Amino acid sequence: GLQEKLSNHSGKLYFGSCADPNTLNIANNVNVLKSDFGCVTPENSMKWDATEPNRGSFSYGNADTLVNWATSNGKLIRGHTLVWHSQLPGWVSNINDQTTLRSVIENHISNLAGRYAGKLYAVRTWDVCNEIFEENGSLRSSVFQRVLGESFVTIAFQAARKADSKAVLYINDYNLDSVNAKVNGMISLVNRVNTATPNTIDGIGTQMHLQGGQGSTAQAVLTALAGASVKEVAITELDIAGAPAQDYNQVVQACVNTPKCVGVTVWGVSDTNSWRSGTSPLLFDGSYKPKAAYNTIIGAL
Ligand code: G3I
Repeated sequence: GLQEKLSNHSGKLYFGSCADPNTLNIANNVNVLKSDFGCVTPENSMKWDATEPNRGSFSYGNADTLVNWATSNGKLIRGHTLVWHSQLPGWVSNINDQTTLRSVIENHISNLAGRYAGKLYAVRTWDVCNEIFEENGSLRSSVFQRVLGESFVTIAFQAARKADSKAVLYINDYNLDSVNAKVNGMISLVNRVNTATPNTIDGIGTQMHLQGGQGSTAQAVLTALAGASVKEVAITELDIAGAPAQDYNQVVQACVNTPKCVGVTVWGVSDTNSWRSGTSPLLFDGSYKPKAAYNTIIGAL
């Protein structure tokens, strides 16, 4: 399958998909994950609303199911995500003072990232901060930005490092699809943070929820992101409306051709289970049969 082709072609690379108990319950889906994927990202189960719905009260049922599945099947895990303005419980959004918010962030990260640290197939990567930019490259308005300013980024990454010293720590965002203001804002922030405190941010993830035609700019984006002060970059949530074979292949080849790019994760296996199911954006159809884009990627590797 894809994972085997990709790692034979270039040993460093993984091919991943999001998954969670709702899709791990589907036998056809699981068969494809086993045959074609080397890494899983929890689609929802590690988000703040799922893991700490009330302050100090943690629930890991679905996250544990995902981690146990990955462990017993020898798959890597991309932990997703520690600090995000969305799927954030109201009790966090309502915090107004710096001391409380800082300790709430640190406690959340120490619990969640600490839980999956140091195991045999521990979490390889954490998306520590997700979607923290506006389209113009400035910091997105959120409780984190409002109360703590840019310092929340360093606070979060340092807490993650403390909780899991082996995990590779990422900043992740969408619409980093051509070299635009958001890409430049990302690169500036990463360089600024890593200059002030070296080795804080290890990697940049570009989600790549694309339209047809956007595969052509993937290489330029990965080259630009890889020029920031990070050890690696990755494509973290790929899906492309209509799943055009050419665009998919351009994106995968862009990662293969970028020395710092460690892997491609698609945001689901089958169109049926996609958050964009109306656009049939994935590599497998509703019957879990490979589509043209899958065959093109495999053929090119
Ligand atoms: O769990 C509840 C369930 O109890 C309730 O009955 C049901 C009714 O709507 O909703 C369920 O929650 C849904 C959740 O997925 C779990 O299925 C939410 O409504 C729904 O909004 C949520 O959507 C997820 C979305 O993130 C939320 O922002 C998608 O599955 C997930 O694919 C999507 O993933 C994000 C990445 O994390 C970050 N980047 C963008 C990407 C796509 O939006």
